[in-house]
Amino acid sequence: MSSNKFWKLLGALGAVFALPWLFLIVIPFLKMSNAEPVPYSEEDGVEGIAAYPDKTLQRHGASDYGRQIYAAEGCAYCHTQVVRPTYAGPDMWRPGWGGREEDGLARETQPGDYATEKVAMLGYQRIGQDLSNVGHRITSRDLMHQHLVEPKSLDPNSGMPAYKHLYKKSSIGSGYVPTGKAEALVDYLMSLKKDQKIPGAIVSGS
Ligand code: HEC
Repeated sequence: MSSNKFWKLLGALGAVFALPWLFLIVIPFLKMSNAEPVPYSEEDGVEGIAAYPDKTLQRHGASDYGRQIYAAEGCAYCHTQVVRPTYAGPDMWRPGWGGREEDGLARETQPGDYATEKVAMLGYQRIGQDLSNVGHRITSRDLMHQHLVEPKSLDPNSGMPAYKHLYKKSSIGSGYVPTGKAEALVDYLMSLKKDQKIPGAIVSGS
């Protein structure tokens, strides 16, 4: 190979790697890495000095442990945590996916929604539902446990694996007793709510 061709090849390889890196990593990072909480103004109709994202929504140790269980058990292989904008898919037409419709809070996910999370569990593909707002859809702990330990008892056609290894078989009856891991995972799932009202400053993009 002549040295001229070699440099052309090197340049082409450089461009092939550099451009996606620039557009997919560097530019989004510069845009979002230093996102600061934005206070609500009076027009937003939110009382007090609340800010978005609300740092108090970052639940305590238990659910952070729960997030680690969620990661370790591979839930993100079948469940996403991002409500897509309508131009990219019909998420907002699916009941309960965008959050509390009855309170007019249902919406698409915003980058700031992840600002209080150490690791955003965006997910790889959707075999099951998006879980961004599952804390609003399943409000009973018992039901959440039942869904994890025996999904087929709720829907015989469920394609969700049973996470029995997170439970101990009870000596009384046929019940399952949740381990600490199962409790932490349920804490985490119940805390999944991405429909906090957004300040007008963000909505209008200023
Ligand atoms: C192999 C794919 C797969 C994996 C892995 C998986 N799920 Fe599921 N999940 C599904 C499917 C399919 C459904 C829908 C059927 C149903 O409701 O049982 C579902 C439903 C759910 C629901 C009910 C959602 C709703 O809106 O009603 C919850 C909660 C849930 N999964 C949590 C989890 C958690 C937590 C994990 C990890 C411990 C997990 N899933 C792992 C496939 C999966």
